Amino acid sequence: MSSELPVWFNGQLRDHDDCKVHVRSHALHYGSSVFEGIRAYDTQEGTRVFRLKAHLERLLWSASIYRIPVPYTYDELHAACRETVRASGLKSAYLRPIVLRGDCGLGVIPKQMDVVEVAIMVTNWGTHLGEGALENGVDACITSWQRLAPNTMPAGVKAGGNYLSSQLIGFEAKDRGFTEGIALGTDGLLSEGAGENVFIVQEGRLLTPPISASILGGITRNSVIHLAKQLGIEVQEQALSREQLYSADEVFFTGTAVEVTPVRRIDHIKIGSRGPITTRIQEAFFGLFDGRTPDRHGWLEPLED
Ligand SMILES: Cc1ncc(COP(=O)(O)O)c(C=O)c1O
Repeated sequence: MSSELPVWFNGQLRDHDDCKVHVRSHALHYGSSVFEGIRAYDTQEGTRVFRLKAHLERLLWSASIYRIPVPYTYDELHAACRETVRASGLKSAYLRPIVLRGDCGLGVIPKQMDVVEVAIMVTNWGTHLGEGALENGVDACITSWQRLAPNTMPAGVKAGGNYLSSQLIGFEAKDRGFTEGIALGTDGLLSEGAGENVFIVQEGRLLTPPISASILGGITRNSVIHLAKQLGIEVQEQALSREQLYSADEVFFTGTAVEVTPVRRIDHIKIGSRGPITTRIQEAFFGLFDGRTPDRHGWLEPLED
């Protein structure tokens, strides 16, 4: 038995070491996997998975765009995610369901469309952008690598292949000494970070690029838009220029991994430390998990029915 946590693999929980895919897997050669990153939080009522429904819907939608037939229903995947968290014994966790084309021979167009493997991994995942990031913010840069151009590959699909773009953005940022990279779209307007969406605060309003701006339509982004409106903060989804980032009153990232992380400098230009609107959004977001924010939309899903 491996000391690693069990993995749900092709229909059942298995020992971590028994979850292997073939070296000829289509996903390995051609990037044909779709996946999700989901957090489960340790709340006063027990462990709750945050927006599991929305994540699984996006997973199935992503698979459909690449014509990957998922051999499990939404209900089966929903149950399997919760079962995997229960089996891990973790109170708070990061879940990684992945659907991938397996060994269907070489060739970009799969010879057999229905060779598909599904795994759900669970792990511990703390603050993604480093200790203190949530309080102090992080330094980011605009990278020379741009986000996928519209009508090349769908940026809104959470596919393994898209993360080649994220790797280039992330590597460039690290090489230049920044914590994270932000990419513009091929139109020169703000797109998103390597693994997160971007919001700016301007005169008390929240502005964020629209879904059409070559971004992944983040579930955290969507949650923040709802929470901001609940707080009476105006939100606008609109095209944003590079200089609007530099002159913003506040900037923050959203994503499952980064949660709500302030950005304190962009390209060495000071934005400031965590500002008042970012603080309110963080309080509302993390308040969902410690009971200070009511769960009005049923976003917190229990591990048992
Ligand atoms: C490229 C990219 N953008 C945005 C996000 C944020 O999405 P979500 O809030 O659904 O995690 C992620 C994380 O999954 C991502 O990888």
